Amino acid sequence: MKRAFKQRVTSALAERAAQGLTRKLVPLARQSGAQFVHQGQTYLHFSSNDYLGLATDPALITAWQEGLSRYGCGSGASPLVTGFHQTHQTLETLLCEWLGYERAILFNSGFSANQAVLFTLLQQDDLLLQDRLNHASLMEAGMLSAATMKRFRHNDAAHLSALLSADQTNMVVTEGVFSMDGDCAPLVALSDCVRHRAVFMVDDAHGIGVLGPDGSGSCAAVGIHPDLLVVTFGKAFGLSGAAVLCDRDVGDYLTQFARHHVYSTAIPPAQAYALSRAIEMIQREQWRRDKLQLLQGIYQERLGHVATALSQTPIQPLIIGSSERTLRVATALREQGIWVSAIRPPTVPQGTARLRVTLTAGHSEAQVRQLAMTLRQVMERHGES
Ligand SMILES: Cc1ncc(COP(=O)(O)O)c(C=O)c1O
Repeated sequence: MKRAFKQRVTSALAERAAQGLTRKLVPLARQSGAQFVHQGQTYLHFSSNDYLGLATDPALITAWQEGLSRYGCGSGASPLVTGFHQTHQTLETLLCEWLGYERAILFNSGFSANQAVLFTLLQQDDLLLQDRLNHASLMEAGMLSAATMKRFRHNDAAHLSALLSADQTNMVVTEGVFSMDGDCAPLVALSDCVRHRAVFMVDDAHGIGVLGPDGSGSCAAVGIHPDLLVVTFGKAFGLSGAAVLCDRDVGDYLTQFARHHVYSTAIPPAQAYALSRAIEMIQREQWRRDKLQLLQGIYQERLGHVATALSQTPIQPLIIGSSERTLRVATALREQGIWVSAIRPPTVPQGTARLRVTLTAGHSEAQVRQLAMTLRQVMERHGES
């Protein structure tokens, strides 16, 4: 039996390697601003979700240090035992006031928040409708949930409308900004389509902090208010964790029944303290979003002709197609000291392997120009432009 188990593992690894899809962990020695050091070499970093440059911001580092001095390292327990501190409560209140909801329930990650919502709120006869490009955490949760899951065509409200069921409880889930394409969901059309017909949930992992007034995200940017809003803290907030925003009843229900909440150690109180500081910085420091706009303009001006899709967000994908060719271009960029991740199936659909370029407020104009110039040269050399 043990041999069969080992064989299962080794053959899955061999198959992945044969497809050229093996991924590697890359230990970073140090990171600061838009650069990191790996194996003694400094790279210019265009592969992070730290869109506002907060992850290494001295003010946020100080806030976390202050939190550690005041509240210690770990929360010590799950929220319903003794892991919920006043710093968590303050963070929840700030999120509710900022985003306009009655309740905010904290989770250790966006992955667990998404799983918790779909596992806890859906029942056997329900119909779950998801945009076909939704994140793996949503897709996997939907498949494992008690409900029947169907996918609607990407950003297609008419297709969604045709799939809604008149006899079942429907839940509709979309991302606000799609993580691998950087495009925005047609939230107004989707929201109109689901009105009185479905519970509507938006995962705004990549929109919060970046879009909308004071960085309040994709929904606020277009004036809609979904029933459930998921925001994650590992991207524009520069930290980690997540929250589900909802009304009082759903909040109480998740607090009681969401197993990822009930049976998991709460995020450290110092982290909650730092997250509250991050919210303040996101709201007040509009210059970070202005800088992103400026950098997006520079990038698109120089690379518009090779880009397959121009997005209005910091995520600027360059779809190459085959995994091998994408890896080749990414490797050539690394040789020039520029780190851009090659994103391959199964993260993206077959035949759409891409470089996922991400811009952050921590980049300088000169660094974006350097990226554009090097990328053009490398693409030309590899016959990709
Ligand atoms: C759209 C989306 N939702 C959820 C997640 C998961 O969030 P976390 O990294 O906090 O687990 C991600 C992560 O990349 C994401 O892109």
